Amino acid sequence: TRPARIAPSILSADFARLADEVAAVERGGADFLHVDVMDGHFVPNLTVGPPIVESLKKVTKLPLDVHLMITNADAFIPEFAAAGASYLTVHVEACPHLHRTVQLIKEHGVKAGVTLNPATSLRTLDEILPDVDLVLIMSVNPGFGGQKFIDHCLQKVANARRMLDQIHSHALLEVDGGIKVDNAGRILAAGAEVLVAGSAVFSSPDYGATIAALRAAGQP
Ligand code: DX5
Ligand code: ZN
Repeated sequence: TRPARIAPSILSADFARLADEVAAVERGGADFLHVDVMDGHFVPNLTVGPPIVESLKKVTKLPLDVHLMITNADAFIPEFAAAGASYLTVHVEACPHLHRTVQLIKEHGVKAGVTLNPATSLRTLDEILPDVDLVLIMSVNPGFGGQKFIDHCLQKVANARRMLDQIHSHALLEVDGGIKVDNAGRILAAGAEVLVAGSAVFSSPDYGATIAALRAAGQP
């Protein structure tokens, strides 16, 4: 089996102490830092933009896994790339010209991810799958941290795993939303490699212990 990688989502961190929070998860063994970008339009919430990504880049060596929950992603890709994003992941529901968007991300030297809301079929990825570096399966409706994992998404993770294996894709399979120590094992068993965890990590007393427990959930 593949090594599980953990991507704490700073959405649940204390934004007034962001550098400390990031240092704590980095020390605690995080593999990526997940940054949730929301525009109050594609999703009913507002968060952060390129300036925060640029500031984070200066205080961490962790790869920045930037999840764009925004319409008109193309207009912001150059700025997020310049700010230091390692991965830029866009929603298929928000990108009518998804192939163009994926190429644009890559032209800026950034790894390209695509993601699906819970009700969006994996079939929408058929034509783009060979071009992507990451597939993110949303296991909550995006917009907020602390929501409950939608169990139906487990089958979708397994199906995505099969689709990626079939084309010998190098793309990472990531899952985001409602992931806790007690369901991480099932998600990893379904074939996920990267687990996003916001509230599970940042509401816990010991970030490092929680990150280790999430990762260990994948071991037999
Ligand atoms: C939801 C975001 C998630 C969120 C996860 O819209 O994309 O990354 O921060 O938070 P938890 O782990 O608390 O569900
Ligand atoms: Zn996210």
